[in-house]
Amino acid sequence: MTKMNKALNEQINKEIFSGYLYLSMVPYFEERSLDGFASWFKAQAQEELFHAMKIFNFVHEVGGTVVLDAIEKPDIEWTSPLQVFKEGLEHEKFITASINELVDLARKEKDWPALDMLQWFVVEQVEEEANFSLHVDQLEMGGESGAALMFMNNKMAARVPLPLSADEE
Ligand code: FEO
Repeated sequence: MTKMNKALNEQINKEIFSGYLYLSMVPYFEERSLDGFASWFKAQAQEELFHAMKIFNFVHEVGGTVVLDAIEKPDIEWTSPLQVFKEGLEHEKFITASINELVDLARKEKDWPALDMLQWFVVEQVEEEANFSLHVDQLEMGGESGAALMFMNNKMAARVPLPLSADEE
């Protein structure tokens, strides 16, 4: 297996873990009736699986081998909406650094198809960090009073996960 193939398999694992991490935030919000926040994180978790599948499909298309490894347990206790978003932002910075390392490797190995595919992730990571950063700023600004959280909750409800079946639409 090439170095790039191995590194892309590791990135598939990181993306699936990201989805798992964001899914672990959903019960925290659901238990507090913050359904808009829960909806936002369900959609975010789905988006991470989409990221994983994008790399998964690419590895297959270029004749590589997808090997799936165990997914780590998201072992963090959620204590406040602000803490959740701060952890999310830190995690996205970690993912950005991982994508940047893959870009470096693609250049070093002269793997132009991988480099091209990874450009999508470079742009996506700017959006991912900006999203989390915006919510950290807003939670710091508004504080975590009931009124501020309700306002944000209603705003976040606009982001909904894809339906699981036609029945849910
Ligand atoms: Fe797949 Fe949130 O980065």
